[in-house]
Amino acid sequence: MAGYAMNKASFFLATLAFAGLSACSPSVGGSNSVQEAPLAGARIGAPFTLTDQDGTSVSWDSFKGKYRIVYFGYTFCPDVCPVDLQKIMQAFTRFEKQKPALAAKVQPIFISVDPERDTVPVIKNYVTAFHPRLIGLTGTPDQIAKVAKDFAVIYSKESEGENYLVSHSRTPYLFGPQGNPIALIPVGENAEATPDAILATLDQWVK
Ligand code: NI
Repeated sequence: MAGYAMNKASFFLATLAFAGLSACSPSVGGSNSVQEAPLAGARIGAPFTLTDQDGTSVSWDSFKGKYRIVYFGYTFCPDVCPVDLQKIMQAFTRFEKQKPALAAKVQPIFISVDPERDTVPVIKNYVTAFHPRLIGLTGTPDQIAKVAKDFAVIYSKESEGENYLVSHSRTPYLFGPQGNPIALIPVGENAEATPDAILATLDQWVK
């Protein structure tokens, strides 16, 4: 994982989020005010068509009416992706137990940034290991490049040979039922990035 790339993406997103906040949130704070989503107004997300873990064509609109947790990564990722996904899906499982009706309105989605190796069967094997409701999406290199760009995600192949690594943004998003960006899901090595914190984010925004 290339820290530089991720930091750049995080900075980019922080800038986006800040721009969103300052542009359209005159009344953040105050115990009675409705808190504006941190990513409200950010230009993240756009229509796409990709292929899911069963080989079915899926579009961004396929999830209309559902909240979406979107994680970009790749199945060969040695440590970061599996750790993040495990935490996210652990939190999601707890959310399902506590608020099953609300959890049913949330679709967790993994999108590959390594379409060459992440074929449909590889993706299926991967997502199934984390949670039965996790959907995995892949596509052609061109499709993936466009989706990543539209979702403010950067990635790049870091080495040659069949065991190459791919550096990529580590910025899982929570989107609303209309595909609107809401917040970043807390991940990373810092103490705040726990399943508890992820659960709190779901609790706060999924209504
Ligand atoms: Ni990764």
